[in-house]
Amino acid sequence: MLPQTLFVVASALTAVTAGPVRKRCSGSGGTPVISSSPLPGSSTTASATASSSASASAPATAGPTLPSTGSGTQLPTPSGQLQHIVVGHGIQNYTCAAPDSTASSATGALAVLYDITDLAPGAQGKSAMTETAWSSLSDQVLHKTDLPLNIVGNALTKYAADVLAPFKASPGADADLTMDGLSAPLKAIGHHYFDAAGVPTFDLFSGTQKLVAKKLNDTAAPAGADKGLLDTGAVAWLRLGDNGSGASRGLASVYRVYTSGGASIACSEANTTISVPYTAQYWFYA
Ligand SMILES: *[C@@H]1O[C@H](CO)[C@@H](O)[C@H](O)[C@H]1NC(C)=O
Ligand SMILES: *[C@@H]1O[C@H](CO)[C@@H](O)[C@H](O)[C@H]1NC(C)=O
Ligand SMILES: *[C@@H]1O[C@H](CO)[C@@H](O)[C@H](O)[C@H]1NC(C)=O
Ligand SMILES: *[C@@H]1O[C@H](CO)[C@@H](O)[C@H](O)[C@H]1NC(C)=O
Repeated sequence: MLPQTLFVVASALTAVTAGPVRKRCSGSGGTPVISSSPLPGSSTTASATASSSASASAPATAGPTLPSTGSGTQLPTPSGQLQHIVVGHGIQNYTCAAPDSTASSATGALAVLYDITDLAPGAQGKSAMTETAWSSLSDQVLHKTDLPLNIVGNALTKYAADVLAPFKASPGADADLTMDGLSAPLKAIGHHYFDAAGVPTFDLFSGTQKLVAKKLNDTAAPAGADKGLLDTGAVAWLRLGDNGSGASRGLASVYRVYTSGGASIACSEANTTISVPYTAQYWFYA
């Protein structure tokens, strides 16, 4: 056996032992592709101190640092104060333009949003995760927990959600998310959906924060990102801002990062909706 082969085997084993569904590894040596600067120990959590005068001298970006994909064009640096970080779990919808077309177009998404702000590496809470656990949290939620939607399935996709009542509960009544390895359940704090006009919307249960959004920037997920339950690949990382209709409140932008799954499957039948499970972290700024 050549030394190089041994090296490949060894790094594959390292990747496996790092966690059964952790797949964000570079091709070269099993190091995570995702880079995210560690926080200085003295930094404060933006959400907890945003309005406190003590943070007046802190830079606007104090708190958890938005990850980058590690290569290619990056999303613009966030402005404003970080409000929440959530993991969204749901489906991405696609439809085929024509029966034999291989191009499916995105038509919408549905997800329940679970608060993970205090789990961010460097967060001051005692539940802060390691960078490794944090960067694979989306993968873990996708593979280890059930879709929090009323899944009915159909001939085309087993992950179709009920059209009239896709969410399991009315806003605010969703069950918290429990998962092996989490010290405490994750609180459901909002829904993501596309409204009747097809506009992506993030509606937080507090009633004081809502983002009626439009996509501003995107960048492909890292090559090693989790391909999801249907093995189609991870949806792009995004930046969305207010769509200008005046319906947003308390939120100015959201970033979708650490995506798992959700990319479109090959088209089969025209004018039918195909739903692909996904998870992602969403970082909300005001
Ligand atoms: C997405 O598809 C599901 C069926 O899986 C449907 O219930 C939902 O209304 C669709 N939403 C959008 C915005 O396309
Ligand atoms: C992000 O999107 C905005 C609005 O479309 C655009 O002006 C800006 O150049 C984009 N930035 C990057 C880095 O792509
Ligand atoms: C913004 O969202 C509202 C609400 O869905 C919609 O009526 C409006 O057409 C959207 N505006 C743009 C510019 O997309
Ligand atoms: C798909 O829907 C469009 C618009 O509703 C319609 O024009 C087209 O004929 C439909 N195609 C098929 C194959 O049903």
